[in-house]
Amino acid sequence: MKVAVLVGSLRRESFSRKTAKTLVTFAPESLTLEIVEIGDLPLYNQDGDDDGKPPIEWTTFRKRIKEYDGVIFVTPEYNRSVPAVLKNAIDIGSRPYGQSVWAGKPGAIVSVSPGAIGGFGANHHLRQSLVFLDMPAMQQPEAYIGGAANLFDAEGKMSNESTREFLRKFVTAFEVWLRTNTASVS
Ligand SMILES: Cc1cc2nc3c(=O)[nH]c(=O)nc-3n(C[C@H](O)[C@H](O)[C@H](O)COP(=O)(O)O)c2cc1C
Repeated sequence: MKVAVLVGSLRRESFSRKTAKTLVTFAPESLTLEIVEIGDLPLYNQDGDDDGKPPIEWTTFRKRIKEYDGVIFVTPEYNRSVPAVLKNAIDIGSRPYGQSVWAGKPGAIVSVSPGAIGGFGANHHLRQSLVFLDMPAMQQPEAYIGGAANLFDAEGKMSNESTREFLRKFVTAFEVWLRTNTASVS
């Protein structure tokens, strides 16, 4: 099964991206995790769909997401919510009305922050959107990665062993979640 990993930060040295890259390396054999880039998506404007002239970046993104069996969101917290770049990608995938690419796809959330509460606000704002998008969101383990500035070595590799172990367990749990919530998989 294929899993899209969406990263909610465009920052060069993003802790979220480094965390996402670590997750990718922990995928069990039955899963392929791929980071799908969202930084070049034009801002969502419903006129594009209503006029039948959506930007090519939107249609390419929608088509690509449809190919995946599940989605893992790895995101920082901006002002206690989800960064605009990630919300924009979610909004684009959710339209035109009735053609959402998210519906029914199992999802999971990892929030990442240098702060102590690990992006809890972003994590739960995002959960609210996933309810509306009809994406079964993995409940446990919850992933609030705090103190992110101290988890990586000079090369950007996650060096904190207990966080590595936690992320390994997280991906393993997501594999089970994906199987349990994917209609076509027995
Ligand atoms: C616009 C903005 C808002 C932010 N708001 C929060 C916040 O609400 N909570 C938090 O823990 N960190 C906040 N931060 C700090 C980010 O957690 C920090 O910049 C982090 O490194 C961003 O994630 P990244 O490393 O993946 O780019 C904010 C940063 C920016 C730029």
